[in-house]
Amino acid sequence: MTVKAPAIHDPAHWDSVSANYAAEADRMTGRYAQAAWELAALPRDARVLDVATGAGALLLAALRDGADAVGIDFSPGMVAIAQARAAEISSGERALVMDGQRLDFPPDSFDAAFSIFGVFMFPDPAAGFAEMARVLRPGGLAVVAVWENPGGAGPAQLFAQTAQRLFPDQPVPLPVSRLFNSPALLDAAFAEAGLRPTTVHRVSYAWPAPPIDWFREHAKLAYGWSPVWQLLDDAQRTVFAEAAAALAADLPPEGITSTALIGMARKPE
Ligand SMILES: C[S@@+](CC[C@H](N)C(=O)[O-])C[C@H]1O[C@@H](n2cnc3c(N)ncnc32)[C@H](O)[C@@H]1O
Repeated sequence: MTVKAPAIHDPAHWDSVSANYAAEADRMTGRYAQAAWELAALPRDARVLDVATGAGALLLAALRDGADAVGIDFSPGMVAIAQARAAEISSGERALVMDGQRLDFPPDSFDAAFSIFGVFMFPDPAAGFAEMARVLRPGGLAVVAVWENPGGAGPAQLFAQTAQRLFPDQPVPLPVSRLFNSPALLDAAFAEAGLRPTTVHRVSYAWPAPPIDWFREHAKLAYGWSPVWQLLDDAQRTVFAEAAAALAADLPPEGITSTALIGMARKPE
């Protein structure tokens, strides 16, 4: 069986998981987004871009602190959710449908550009880094979060483990997730985009495991992006979700600890 283009490159995939995404992101990616926002320590009225905003984790953190922030995402479903959540904090169009590889902003538009678990998933990640660099003002800050573990994080790690057990011959992690999962690789990606790398922070949180039924109901949300998942028919997906639920029963009380690398770089003056 051949695998189609990876689901992560298809906005329809992200649309299809968007309804459940906000609740899960708040207890998962949202914590890293908040950490990235705090580590950036920007002035209150900074102009901020969140590339691949999803349900708006970083965008909302920025708006709450008074930044003039906008998020973009290529999934209209995600953008609708991010915009609705942003509207509770701030007026105006705060989330826009846009491809992060071709940003529709002029150069010098932002004091800071973030991408939290976004740009490393693009078909052409270098174009994503380059676009972040282009729209920054000279001296502006780029912040990119990636997972250190190539199998991803939280529930995705558990699903990757399940896939390894059920399909030992399949490559489990996404090939792209290996592209930037060390400080040196992340710094090299910044440098290639013409940015000056400054610091890579390692940030870890435990993902508190939900009740076992969650693994049956949310397998697509947590693992639908995976090439392994795409190989399965509906019956196999049910078996897969059951196997993940069985593994989840043995998780330690604190859940799964996942580490993000949060890289920072400056656009030269
Ligand atoms: C793992 S989610 C991260 C979302 C959010 N930043 C967070 O931390 O929760 C990846 C996001 O990247 C978006 N995405 C993937 N490829 C994209 C592209 N080429 N342009 C814009 N957004 C993209 C997806 O729609 C999805 O919302």
